[in-house]
Amino acid sequence: MKRKTLTQYLVEQQREHGVVVPEVRLLIEVVARACKAISHAVSKGALGGVLGSLGTENVQGEVQKKLDVMSNEILLEANEWGGHLAAMASEEMETIHPIPNRYPKGEYLLLFDPLDGSSNIDVNVSIGTIFSVLRAHHDTPGQPVGEQDFMQPGNKQVASGYAVYGPQTMLVITVGNGVAGFTLDREMGSWVLTHEDMRIPEDTKEFAINMSNMRHWAPPVKHYIDDCLAGKTGPRGKDFNMRWVASMVADVHRILTRGGIFMYPWDSREPNKPGKLRLMYEANPMSLLIEQAGGAAIDGTQRILDIQPMQLHQRVSVILGSKNEVETVARYHKEHG
Ligand code: AHG
Ligand code: MN
Ligand code: MN
Ligand code: MN
Repeated sequence: MKRKTLTQYLVEQQREHGVVVPEVRLLIEVVARACKAISHAVSKGALGGVLGSLGTENVQGEVQKKLDVMSNEILLEANEWGGHLAAMASEEMETIHPIPNRYPKGEYLLLFDPLDGSSNIDVNVSIGTIFSVLRAHHDTPGQPVGEQDFMQPGNKQVASGYAVYGPQTMLVITVGNGVAGFTLDREMGSWVLTHEDMRIPEDTKEFAINMSNMRHWAPPVKHYIDDCLAGKTGPRGKDFNMRWVASMVADVHRILTRGGIFMYPWDSREPNKPGKLRLMYEANPMSLLIEQAGGAAIDGTQRILDIQPMQLHQRVSVILGSKNEVETVARYHKEHG
């Protein structure tokens, strides 16, 4: 069987479904090329001298790993010159990165988590890259783009996706017409469509949450997990399994493949932050993928994609995955909130 490449898929989406314009196609292909370079660096590991920390801290107060910074630079460099972007934003940069004056500017904004799952880099466990594309609706021509141009809810995303660097390197994207998964063919250097129209089963018996935080959770989350743990004879009437990779990309990839629920809820360790994960470059792109695959994504009470961001590095509580299970968690929030 002759399989489609990423380029063929995108051209088809453009021709047959009218959901992609040439600039967005180029943008996604450039991001995909950068992910190829990151994948190559990741796979070298100690041989390439890419493991370990830099000792610097990012704006979130996290110690930066070498690969956090390298991946950020690879993405910036790859996307600067193409003419399709107005600016970029990243977990690893304090503020936005406007396209330098030596290059033409385009009308899109690119946001990314260059390296997701940093704590797994040095232990050879799956990590990834997450990206989100917005339109820079800029009503004052001549004015430089600012952070305020990025303050758009996730439902305005034009496209989103992730690369997962695991046993295989895969790229999973949506341009608003379902979710497609591509596997990197290293010999050919191309992304091959291997997972057409990925759909999430509506029901599940598998949850993903960092259980070590249990004593810090809010009552609705505590109740929900207690009931899952009670098994067949408990209120949920089924035995649940648990998985926690601690790389959001890998956990979300599993859910897109076989269903499940992923939660990184608010907890009382940092009572003034809504959660640990970042709205703009983790929660929003993943929520779009999850919804496009028939799943749901909420912060406990509201749809993540409808949250109006106030800050670039805003955090959010994340509950996403199989639709009926997410609705069950929403019910626990109503009943125990
Ligand atoms: P990042 O490596 O980009 O900072 O993100 C890590 C995130 C996410 O990938 C994962 O789900 C979560 O942090 C794991 O957190 P814990 O170590 O608290 O379980
Ligand atoms: Mn980080
Ligand atoms: Mn991350
Ligand atoms: Mn990261």
